[in-house]
Amino acid sequence: MFKYLDATERMRESIMITIDGVALEVPAQETLAAAMLQSGRLDLRTTAISGTPRSAYCMMGVCFDCLVTIDDQPNQQACMTLVRPGMRVERQAGAGEIVRMPRSGDAT
Ligand code: FES
Repeated sequence: MFKYLDATERMRESIMITIDGVALEVPAQETLAAAMLQSGRLDLRTTAISGTPRSAYCMMGVCFDCLVTIDDQPNQQACMTLVRPGMRVERQAGAGEIVRMPRSGDAT
């Protein structure tokens, strides 16, 4: 369904990531959403209310339909994230837990 226009150039360098525990070789310098779509993983998450599968839509950080869990951090936009070697990705089921990032001045 999804094919690179310049496949030989993009596949020259590849890295390994895992998606839902399955190892996958993906092109380096690629967004995670593009890598997932290219590998046939069209449903990136399910909705919080009805559990309906959702896929990346805008591919530019606007719709938030591509939220996944990356290295145990939920609610990450796959279309705005470049793949990294060893990245662990899980498709997100429903609303991801909100993780508050520490701010300067927080008690330690
Ligand atoms: S696909 Fe729309 S925000 Fe990622």
